[in-house]
Amino acid sequence: MENADFSYNSPAHRLVFGWGARSALKEELARLNVRRPMLVCSSRAARSGEVVELRRALGVSDESVFGEVGSHAPLQSAFDGWQRARAVQADCLISFGGGSASDTMKGIALACAEDGRLLDFTLERLPDGSLRNPLSTRAKLPCVAIPTTVSGAEITPAFALTETTGKKILFRDASIAPRLLVYDPELMMSVPARSMSESGMNAVAHTIEALYSKVKNPVSRIHAREGLPLLYRGLHAVAMGSAQRDDFIALALGAYYAGVSITNARTALHHSICHKLGPAVGLTHGMTNSIVLPHVLEFNLPAARDELAEVGELIGQANVGLSARTPEDAIAAVRALARHAGLPSRLRDVNVSREKLPALAQVILNEPGLAFNPRPVESAAQIAAILDSAW
Ligand SMILES: [Fe+2]
Repeated sequence: MENADFSYNSPAHRLVFGWGARSALKEELARLNVRRPMLVCSSRAARSGEVVELRRALGVSDESVFGEVGSHAPLQSAFDGWQRARAVQADCLISFGGGSASDTMKGIALACAEDGRLLDFTLERLPDGSLRNPLSTRAKLPCVAIPTTVSGAEITPAFALTETTGKKILFRDASIAPRLLVYDPELMMSVPARSMSESGMNAVAHTIEALYSKVKNPVSRIHAREGLPLLYRGLHAVAMGSAQRDDFIALALGAYYAGVSITNARTALHHSICHKLGPAVGLTHGMTNSIVLPHVLEFNLPAARDELAEVGELIGQANVGLSARTPEDAIAAVRALARHAGLPSRLRDVNVSREKLPALAQVILNEPGLAFNPRPVESAAQIAAILDSAW
């Protein structure tokens, strides 16, 4: 049996899952002995009925709402949030929103613990291919996440913050991963279908990368296998405009499994490309995922035929009238999902200039995730070819 010897990191959190689960938050915070939580969200979310209702239930003041989360989690917001958390003497951070909200919260937690010395703890790939990951040993504020999309960012110990230049800085520290997750699929119903589809393509990519990652293990595989059909089913319904309560529950549960799977299996070439490409050309992480994924799968096909055949089998289990028998069918089914959702399929259609791509390929070559890709990536030219096919 492949990978029969393995180590497994169990994500250390409590999950409260269910329709309307957010109503349990007050009680859950009391269990954590929290008195002064600070909410971390976008300015739009801060004005939403759901956040107003949450604030009322928890007694959160205006000052304790840090509503400055931006797309791709700007590094500066983590610093600003740190200052705010200090000013209000927060004893807990609660993110409300998508991946950028939870990543910003994680950045604030690290900044609070290390007096703003965030850049001392970045995850980097050294020229010899090994990873450098200095860990913060100081106590962290407890982080609580209420995800409204399916990015799964709230589950993993990894997070990324973006500099004003568009450079994404990676971190990975298990002591920062949220310890309480409140998954309330009802919140996802008010997210625009387009955003949900983008976010969902990211979650689908998590399960596929987890299935073929070089550091997958039998436990991470269980989660990826469970997650993919649920995600495919839920996203298909969202794309068709027919999503009901059960479809949102499937999406949320699928996203949870996807996030748990990459906590161990990590992510590979596909995410390495998305982490650099998205911020550099102004695309959301979800949109970047949606466009790039089929092209990376084609690149990985010779090294991951069995895993991609399994992807096809799992998509078949979604019961949406699709049978994907071969690895090639699986890639076509991933493409079809994005197409049905009306997402663009080429970089040129979202105003990405082709000239930028070779330089980006060079930068991507240093990404840590390349170490986990099933097919070795030896040159920037290989990455440039993938980017060009996506263009
Ligand atoms: Fe992702």
